[in-house]
Amino acid sequence: MLSGTILVSLIALGVVNVALAQTNITANVCADPSAFTSCIAQATTASKGCMDICNGNNICVLGCGCAMYQSYINCVAESCWNQVYSCEYDELIADYFVNCPAATEPVPFWPAPDNAPGGCSCNLGKVLHSVMKAEQGYNSCITNNTSTSIVQLSNKNTACGCCEVSAGLSAMYETCPDTIPSAMGADSWLKTATLYGELINWGTCGSVLDKYSCPNLGFAPPSSNSSTFYNPNNLPPNGTYTLYNTGGVNALTAPASGSVFTWSQTSVTYTVTASPWKNSAVKATAAGTSGGSVASGTAAAAGATKTSGGASLSLQLPSVVVWLSVLGVLAKMVLI
Ligand SMILES: *[C@@H]1O[C@H](CO)[C@@H](O)[C@H](O)[C@H]1NC(C)=O
Ligand SMILES: *[C@@H]1O[C@H](CO)[C@@H](O)[C@H](O)[C@H]1NC(C)=O
Ligand SMILES: *[C@@H]1O[C@H](CO)[C@@H](O)[C@H](O)[C@H]1NC(C)=O
Ligand SMILES: *[C@@H]1O[C@H](CO)[C@@H](O)[C@H](O)[C@H]1NC(C)=O
Ligand SMILES: *[C@@H]1O[C@H](CO)[C@@H](O)[C@H](O)[C@H]1NC(C)=O
Repeated sequence: MLSGTILVSLIALGVVNVALAQTNITANVCADPSAFTSCIAQATTASKGCMDICNGNNICVLGCGCAMYQSYINCVAESCWNQVYSCEYDELIADYFVNCPAATEPVPFWPAPDNAPGGCSCNLGKVLHSVMKAEQGYNSCITNNTSTSIVQLSNKNTACGCCEVSAGLSAMYETCPDTIPSAMGADSWLKTATLYGELINWGTCGSVLDKYSCPNLGFAPPSSNSSTFYNPNNLPPNGTYTLYNTGGVNALTAPASGSVFTWSQTSVTYTVTASPWKNSAVKATAAGTSGGSVASGTAAAAGATKTSGGASLSLQLPSVVVWLSVLGVLAKMVLI
């Protein structure tokens, strides 16, 4: 419920400010560049139309924004499926979770498996998972009576908040020790954390974290391979690498979920059909580069030869149904 809390905070502050979906995935790296370009253009147009109907109603606008992100995800899955493990796709999904309070897992191809072909140098999906877990830890910490008995009531917000910020930061430093923390969202995490309450000031969390044990307050280990909760005085040195994709544009030679798959958000189910490889600027790798995956290499190569004409794309655009469904979910969250 990371995003739910952010939403409530933002509404409380009266600063709802909806970001239009954006992606740094560029058509030239896609399996089917022209299909990707037209898919994104149509999604953008449809979403702007959706927002026009909202007439300034924040919840309505948020709903349109959710549908817009979902459309972008569908565009990638259809015509840019070779980029689903890239840093740029990871960033698109992270933005979706932050900007759409109704976003729920599972989301296609996310988080990426470890060492995925063409994967991001830092598994941002894994990091975001940990950050969401930190947020859940905070929620159970402030509502759990056991933690009240451990922490003086007046210190409860501070202790729970410091553990939360620590859990998120610790996950970043442990999961991707070589990556520059701000590239994993460390700076926005620190900013978000201070939004919940002026009480959480990371710089002063050292003495709080010395006094209380976060696991005793109900927090899970910050990352899958470390249970350390760092404090501001003992964080490891910052990594120095920016994010980069570990494989070439054609590292993934066939759609990861097969040529047709479905996924759902709120009550909407999308059916996505992957385009064949049509990127003539970048050749699909057939057998040769990727020894083990002859079958998938062949599939992509076969697709590449079928460029003849007018393959119709099943574009998944946000319809009224989509955002009405999102709207219902959002309305419930806000009314709680
Ligand atoms: C796109 O890249 C710019 C520059 O690196 C970055 O500021 C922005 O957050 C990125 N947007 C997304 C959606 O990844
Ligand atoms: C926890 O504390 C609240 C408020 O003091 C109280 O209403 C509730 O009954 C307690 N729950 C348990 C399980 O003790
Ligand atoms: C945890 O895993 C990451 C990524 O595989 C690795 O770089 C890091 O060193 C590991 N940390 C620990 C404490 O094992
Ligand atoms: C390390 O990264 C954090 C988070 O982005 C930043 O606040 C801090 O200033 C950085 N430390 C150094 C020494 O650059
Ligand atoms: C409350 O916290 C204690 C100690 O961390 C934990 O054992 C217990 O399961 C938690 N209870 C709930 C309802 O989360």
